[in-house]
Amino acid sequence: MRTVIIGGTGHVGTYLTPRLVEAGHEVICVSRQQREPYQPHAAWQLVQRVHLDRAAEEQAGVFGQRIRDMQPDIVIDMICFTLDSAKHLVEALRGQVRHFLHCGTIWAHGHSERVPTTEDQPRRPFGEYGIQKAAIEDFLLGEARRGDFPATVLMPGHIVGPGWNILNPQGNFNPQVFSRIARGEELALPNFGLETVHHVHADDVAQAFMGAIMHWSAAVGESFHTVSPQALSLRGYAEAVYAWFGQQPKLAFLPWEEWRKTVSGDEAAATWDHIAHSPNCSIDKARRLIGYQPRYTSLQGVFEAVEWLIARKMIEAG
Ligand SMILES: NC(=O)c1ccc[n+]([C@@H]2O[C@H](COP(=O)([O-])OP(=O)(O)OC[C@H]3O[C@@H](n4cnc5c(N)ncnc54)[C@H](OP(=O)(O)O)[C@@H]3O)[C@@H](O)[C@H]2O)c1
Repeated sequence: MRTVIIGGTGHVGTYLTPRLVEAGHEVICVSRQQREPYQPHAAWQLVQRVHLDRAAEEQAGVFGQRIRDMQPDIVIDMICFTLDSAKHLVEALRGQVRHFLHCGTIWAHGHSERVPTTEDQPRRPFGEYGIQKAAIEDFLLGEARRGDFPATVLMPGHIVGPGWNILNPQGNFNPQVFSRIARGEELALPNFGLETVHHVHADDVAQAFMGAIMHWSAAVGESFHTVSPQALSLRGYAEAVYAWFGQQPKLAFLPWEEWRKTVSGDEAAATWDHIAHSPNCSIDKARRLIGYQPRYTSLQGVFEAVEWLIARKMIEAG
């Protein structure tokens, strides 16, 4: 298989690109080459790296053709964020690819309603990102189910792994929250701390992409949640982090309007986005149809990332 991965050096690509090489794919990785994968891997020596700026090429109307000219059997699109962008690529690749895999998001669901959320529940996205991702999913699965285009959509949760900042127990990205817990200080959570977050380790996302490729006939025309086996409440997450640092939990609970004044505007906005969604997604379908078996629980993924952040002094472990 000749496989093009668009955006293959990021969180997921760091794991997925080597997995493709190991499985015998001839891999072409498209990016602007502004960054390198988070971890080195010998497989990268066998990857053809192509420098392309998707935004610039799309503006010139030639991005899809550029990808088609690579004569791929499989295209993995890690960085598509608008319906127009998806349509442009599909038109160019129609009749060329045997499998097209899009990286979506659980944000396409909007608010959680019946949990664990299953993929067949109606989409009620909010926020431009989720709305566009839901529209892309709808478009791709519609094309696939009409038999016109062999698309699959993978829907990750909050991606964690060693190498970048991760979603903390307040539902935002301030790494000092971990430092405060490590010192045994009090942490305030919004409401009762019972709203949820749903992490996934980047390597488990990569595993799901491989599973979809290997189970082509079950995967085409379908979307799959790509998350850890269980979501965490903010309270459960915070308590586990206190315990990991050998501290007794010291939690306070404040109504949202009071809590938001205790953090910066950016942190409050990030927390609002996460708790307004409160994702809690089922992986039954992915387990059944594409053999998805996540290696990491939410907390295992989190602690691997936290260890990396401590080693780089981005979290003070005391
Ligand atoms: N992060 C999360 O928690 C999360 C949660 C759910 C879903 N997702 C989905 O995951 C996908 C992102 O995957 P990721 O987190 O692995 O990506 P990522 O870490 O953001 O990496 C992005 C990749 O795309 C390349 N890239 C960025 N802009 C580009 C451009 N204009 N032209 C060509 N290449 C470009 C980057 O390399 P260069 O910078 O060198 O070009 C890199 O290889 C998105 O579809 C997102 O919706 C993410």
